[in-house]
Amino acid sequence: MIKTVKTTPYTDQKMGTAGLRKKSKLVEQENYVENFVQSIFDAIGGVKGQTFILGGDGRYYNKIAIQKIMKMSAANGMKKMIVGQNGFISTPTSSKVLLKNHADGGFVLTASHNPGGKNGDFGIKYAVASGGQCPTSLSDKIFENSKKITEYKILEAPDVDLSNLGTQKLGDMEIEVIEPVQEYVEMMESIFDFPAIKKLFANGFTMAFDAMNAVTGPYALKIFEEILGAPKGSVWNYVPMEDFGGLHPDPNLIYAKKLVDFMYSDKAADFGGANDGDGDRNMILGKKFFVTPSDSLAILTDNYKYIPAYKNGIYGVAKSAATSTAVGRVAEALNIGYYEVPTGWKYFCNLMDSNRITFCGEESFGTGSSHIREKDGIWAILFWLNIIAATGKSVEEITMEHWKKYGRSYYMRNDYDGIDIEVANKLMADLEAKLPSLKGKTFGAYTVLEAKPFIYNDPVDGSSTKNGLIVYFTDKSRIVFRLSGTGTNGATLRVYLERYETEKFKEDPEKMLESLADVSREIAEIPERTGKVKADVLT
Ligand code: G1P
Ligand code: ZN
Repeated sequence: MIKTVKTTPYTDQKMGTAGLRKKSKLVEQENYVENFVQSIFDAIGGVKGQTFILGGDGRYYNKIAIQKIMKMSAANGMKKMIVGQNGFISTPTSSKVLLKNHADGGFVLTASHNPGGKNGDFGIKYAVASGGQCPTSLSDKIFENSKKITEYKILEAPDVDLSNLGTQKLGDMEIEVIEPVQEYVEMMESIFDFPAIKKLFANGFTMAFDAMNAVTGPYALKIFEEILGAPKGSVWNYVPMEDFGGLHPDPNLIYAKKLVDFMYSDKAADFGGANDGDGDRNMILGKKFFVTPSDSLAILTDNYKYIPAYKNGIYGVAKSAATSTAVGRVAEALNIGYYEVPTGWKYFCNLMDSNRITFCGEESFGTGSSHIREKDGIWAILFWLNIIAATGKSVEEITMEHWKKYGRSYYMRNDYDGIDIEVANKLMADLEAKLPSLKGKTFGAYTVLEAKPFIYNDPVDGSSTKNGLIVYFTDKSRIVFRLSGTGTNGATLRVYLERYETEKFKEDPEKMLESLADVSREIAEIPERTGKVKADVLT
């Protein structure tokens, strides 16, 4: 039976950089998920006759939210819902399944790389028919709806069993339970040279992949160990858990510490990689060697010809403004299009849809291509393995050659966490106001060439977005300031530091960027305003 339930609005259902992301405890409030989902359905004029994809990274509340969304979809007249077995689907797989089925939309229940569990975070990413996350114009409309919602529709029915593959009915809606790993494996096989990578492992190559107790465990086990023949035990933490076993599933030098320590030990494997909660982020390591995501994007782009799916040529490449300029030098050398967009994967989608770009990436451990409309963690790792298999070179050799050819952008992100929201907003507003006056000023060894907000004019839909403030120095160094749009604990100020070197390649990035970090604190008056003399997290 379809029930119409009266509800009262929440005022905080505004999507951030990637969907709605909140503390689990907030999401557990009465009608919280229901209000948000109905606000989406209403914003798109209903879902009658439509097909959606649904699944999540398995974190706490995944199971409950999935049942709610299926029952609401049935009550709202949806024709079909394609759901990952047991409610699991990685973000890249969801995007692929959405595109393959020409579906109208999709939900991935995840707070990405944020911790999970009752005291962690939960989230809902909403994708549109193009396979990418919903554009800002639509999320604004959804937010408006959520602030005035009075009722939602839900089917009264027992919970759906999602353990068996195949189709079943929920009211008048068809539910198809799919096996997501197989979907994903097929896509990877169609892109990369699996036989070459298999040969690499057969010749004794070793790897360590940390799935961080999150969604990509089963994918990694299947691809790396079963199909490609990496030694047993190469894939770590491969059983997805509701609280990620207490891990913070963010693949970076801080949170993937166990892997990093291993890769910097004398027992290190030849290659190290990790993914985040929902499988769209990646970290790349060689023996005692770390590749920044900015460099990784540049290196992958420069080596596209080794990959079967790209060898006949690529369109351009794009990066978020905060990401280092390394890939820009590659784009220039390859003579392909090059775009700088605001932070957030959704800004790449129009460029992919219009064949302006093939590859794109962000400094926040996100790399991907137009095979889907999300970033893709395992894809990035396979890309590296494919280059290694084709060239016979190590991660370090490939990266060193790259720096010799193009120079090196020393790059780091400094995060100042848990700042009072008003303090953070005022810091940014005051900084923006003083940008014009910085031009020509000298801070230690750095002289400001130009300082301005980053404004992106989308060449496809004509929309304009302001995101972050950039200070350019005369020696090609840059500082980007912006506030996080995914945090759930006060405000996080992100400061991105970049310094370009054409000769010194083997220095410690933290040391190389120390004085620029001081300059960033001075320019934005960070200690005075936040009481913080140092960043909380350096990545
Ligand atoms: C962060 C990253 C951004 C990424 C997003 C979703 O957003 O910085 O690059 O697209 O997570 O994974 P932020 O918190 O900075 O708004
Ligand atoms: Zn993610």
